[in-house]
Amino acid sequence: MDIVSSIICLLFFSTLFSYYLSKKQNKKYKGRLKLPPGSMGWPYLGETLQLYSKDPNIFFSNKQKRYGEIFKTHILGCPCVMLASSEAARFVLVTHAHLFKPTYPKSKEKMIGPSALFFHQGDYHNHLRKLVQSSLSLELLRKLIPGIEAIAISTLESWTSGQVINTFQGLKKFAFEVGILAIFGHLEKKQREELKENYCIIDKGYNSFPTNIPGTAYHKALQARKRLKKILSEILSERKEKKLLEKDLLGHLLNFIDEKGQTLTEDEISDNIIGVLFAAQDTTASTITWILKYLNDDQKLLEAVKAEQKAIYMENDEGKRPLTWAQTRNMPFTYKVILESLRMSSIVSFTFREAVVDMEYNGYLIPKGWKVMPLFRNIHHNPEYFNEPQNFDSHRFEVAPKPNTYMPFGNGAHSCPGNELAKLEMMIFIHRLVTKLRWKVVGTQNLVEYSPFPVPQHGLPARFWKESDNEEITI
Ligand code: HEM
Repeated sequence: MDIVSSIICLLFFSTLFSYYLSKKQNKKYKGRLKLPPGSMGWPYLGETLQLYSKDPNIFFSNKQKRYGEIFKTHILGCPCVMLASSEAARFVLVTHAHLFKPTYPKSKEKMIGPSALFFHQGDYHNHLRKLVQSSLSLELLRKLIPGIEAIAISTLESWTSGQVINTFQGLKKFAFEVGILAIFGHLEKKQREELKENYCIIDKGYNSFPTNIPGTAYHKALQARKRLKKILSEILSERKEKKLLEKDLLGHLLNFIDEKGQTLTEDEISDNIIGVLFAAQDTTASTITWILKYLNDDQKLLEAVKAEQKAIYMENDEGKRPLTWAQTRNMPFTYKVILESLRMSSIVSFTFREAVVDMEYNGYLIPKGWKVMPLFRNIHHNPEYFNEPQNFDSHRFEVAPKPNTYMPFGNGAHSCPGNELAKLEMMIFIHRLVTKLRWKVVGTQNLVEYSPFPVPQHGLPARFWKESDNEEITI
């Protein structure tokens, strides 16, 4: 037998063998186990319309009431198992994480870049994650405080012109600037503006229907992605030429060498920069928007935060001296308000993974290839874990939550490496906001919109004015 026939033979028998094994595996489970309860809806459409025609959170909580903490459904063309208990989330994200791979629609992967860390597992993911984490270590974050404070001051300054501000959109700009600071340190204004302009186009296309036809938001976003790559390429060459040993994320990515002496490719660096910008912007902006809403809705809460922040402001010569690291680590009341806002809003309501093998969980079958979704929001709103979960009560954080019940930043190997930066940004922003400004929300804002994270409707339109002006602009 020649070598080609041997290879064909080998391939044939190994395919046959793996088919037999997978059948055996299926039989092992399928004979014995049943799928979780739930409904798969219409053929192909599944329950996608039910999910998106009303508040997704109502869809999830109604399902949980009806079927319990594990249930099946079918959305966006995929069969799914949804998990609403803290043990199940831990099973998927921590103890059995190797059996569940990250999964995103191909269109999104293309937009961010396939080498971004959140699409990966194993060694590549570990390396990248360590780089992102060490560029966001507490030691390096403390050095960012003056820069973040300057961005907060200029953002808030631009809000006091008397016009109605879309708070969420304003905070997106703030979070973007902070993201740029953490990634590049100092960046020339021209490069910053070019990055911003193209990133905004990508952002608009990210959640649009993925048709790559000229004129569509998706097509424009892909074109902007190409331009962004070019700008990043120029920044990389400049950095390499200057041989600077910066400690920001770009510095970490550029200086990485693995055990085989390999460095990261330019694509790997760009995809991860775009990935971090993407992960950092809407998440932080929507959480701070919710904080403003909660403070606006409860004047006592606002007064308590203000009292804590005013004391620091006076310590700093009425805000003339910048915040210190020690001060940002000692804002106990504000910190609890942030923790409770993260729980209440649960802006990352759930995450997705895909089962890589058939498996059993609590007597149910989770079939290979099915999407698996830990529902963070349901866990954060479960009265067994959080007493009267619909009420905003920052005092609940005087006692640590039960293990694995509080996951605004996820859990396990893919949990958020930006969580300390996000909390620092929030603290600095709140400090500057409540000590210098007052604001009034325009209209009654009790509805929620999804962009795709939940935010108060119309981005919480509000007017802001300097406390020193002491006059409220009539609305
Ligand atoms: C309030 C703000 C934020 C929230 C609520 C948040 C939440 C999350 C959550 C829940 C995950 C895990 C997703 C999963 O398991 O599928 C995650 C991952 C991630 N976040 Fe954040 N995030 C925030 C801010 C940030 C910031 C400021 C950065 C960077 C500067 C960042 C960078 C990342 C990255 C790179 C990942 C992927 C990690 C990995 O796959 O290993 N996030 N975030």
